[in-house]
Amino acid sequence: MQKIGFIGIGKLGLDCAEVMAEKHEVYGYDIYPRTSDSVKVCDINELVEKSDWIFIAVPTPHSEGYDGSIPSSHMEPRDFGHEAVFSAIDNINKYAKTSKKVVLISTVLPGTTRKHFVPRLDSRHQFLYNPYLIAMGSVKWDMVNPEMIMIGTEDGNPNALAGELRALYDTVMQNNPRYEIGTWDECEAIKIFYNTFISAKVGLVNMIQDFALKIGNINVDVVTNALARSTMRIMGPKYMTAGMGDAGACHPRDNIALRWLAQEYDIGYDLFDTVMHAREIQAKNLALFLVKEAKSSNLPIVIHGKAYKPDVPYCIGSYSTLVGHYIKEAGMTVRYVDPLADDATDVVVEVHAPAVFLWAHNRKITYEYTGDQLDTQPYCQIMGGSIIVDPWRKLQSTSAVKVIHYGNTRHS
Ligand SMILES: NC(=O)c1ccc[n+]([C@@H]2O[C@H](COP(=O)([O-])OP(=O)(O)OC[C@H]3O[C@@H](n4cnc5c(N)ncnc54)[C@H](O)[C@@H]3O)[C@@H](O)[C@H]2O)c1
Repeated sequence: MQKIGFIGIGKLGLDCAEVMAEKHEVYGYDIYPRTSDSVKVCDINELVEKSDWIFIAVPTPHSEGYDGSIPSSHMEPRDFGHEAVFSAIDNINKYAKTSKKVVLISTVLPGTTRKHFVPRLDSRHQFLYNPYLIAMGSVKWDMVNPEMIMIGTEDGNPNALAGELRALYDTVMQNNPRYEIGTWDECEAIKIFYNTFISAKVGLVNMIQDFALKIGNINVDVVTNALARSTMRIMGPKYMTAGMGDAGACHPRDNIALRWLAQEYDIGYDLFDTVMHAREIQAKNLALFLVKEAKSSNLPIVIHGKAYKPDVPYCIGSYSTLVGHYIKEAGMTVRYVDPLADDATDVVVEVHAPAVFLWAHNRKITYEYTGDQLDTQPYCQIMGGSIIVDPWRKLQSTSAVKVIHYGNTRHS
């Protein structure tokens, strides 16, 4: 049994600490009051003193307006904020009486650890960069069934310190994961470019959706399913369903921050900006489609699902909000229904009249990979005479409600 501390027990850190606590003695510290049945929540000095491993899972936030829930591709590129990581490092320096193994989980841009964090940490401690590929709504499952575990050290030596962390993870993992061991900088790059690949992939399939609408006689699913099965040259089927755009607390903001990196290192082009710009225009196209439907049917617009995905409250980086932004820009009102949404702006509980609904959430598609297959149930009553625009193309029309499969312009 190892002694492990988690500095920052928020959305990511608490669940991860609780997973570790099933096998180890785990301490947790946060600047906000937190509780747990299995993690011993304590003061920072106690955590530092008692832990041999110290995981840092504090926020590395982007500035206001850079999360992707409103347009940002026109704004000045910026790096993430590192203040909370600095504070965690300073606390370790201050309270440690023995040498510690410090493991940073938080997302940072390539080069940050070597440039900013390691010089700040007392040299008697050791530093590992170990970002997680974890999604909200499935944190504990993702933690023990990761696609890979990235472990970054100063020189990328797979044995020594990286080997020790690997041995620690082997005590809790369920899926015998692939380990990718590299330098700090390589692991920073694996994590953040992984997210960029996803954003680009979603941007590409949604581009096909846009063309399906313009050209006609195209069901986007016929095209993307064929591409998804083309495993000789193109990757696997995940994120190959056109629909809502990439969203959440990580993917959009990571790309937005990478714009800053492209500028900082004078790469000469900014693919991230293109990916983000495409995401915004795709949202605008969907918004204008809804506006057209609403005007021709004389109905209001309701977005069904405001959080960035089903089953979670988080509206950060929400694509629904981005679509809502463009609906407002086109001069129409937008309302949302979402019983969980942590941002109540424009959210209503019931919709008492027919409306044009955007079916933003499809939990079957979102959570398919965890084995969870239940479909999204309506968040409110859908009155007869309503129109549902389904960007996932799964719902069927009834005698009372017409469903439009956004992205399918085939006639049969
Ligand atoms: N949430 C995800 O899905 C996810 C996935 C992969 C990576 N990440 C990365 O992990 C990091 C944390 O993300 P999160 O979603 O858990 O954020 P969060 O805001 O939910 O949690 C961070 C916690 O750290 C605490 N905190 C802030 N400053 C602190 C300090 N100086 N000392 C101690 N505690 C402090 C906050 O009170 C909060 O509880 C971010 O860098 C994020 O990019 C998050």
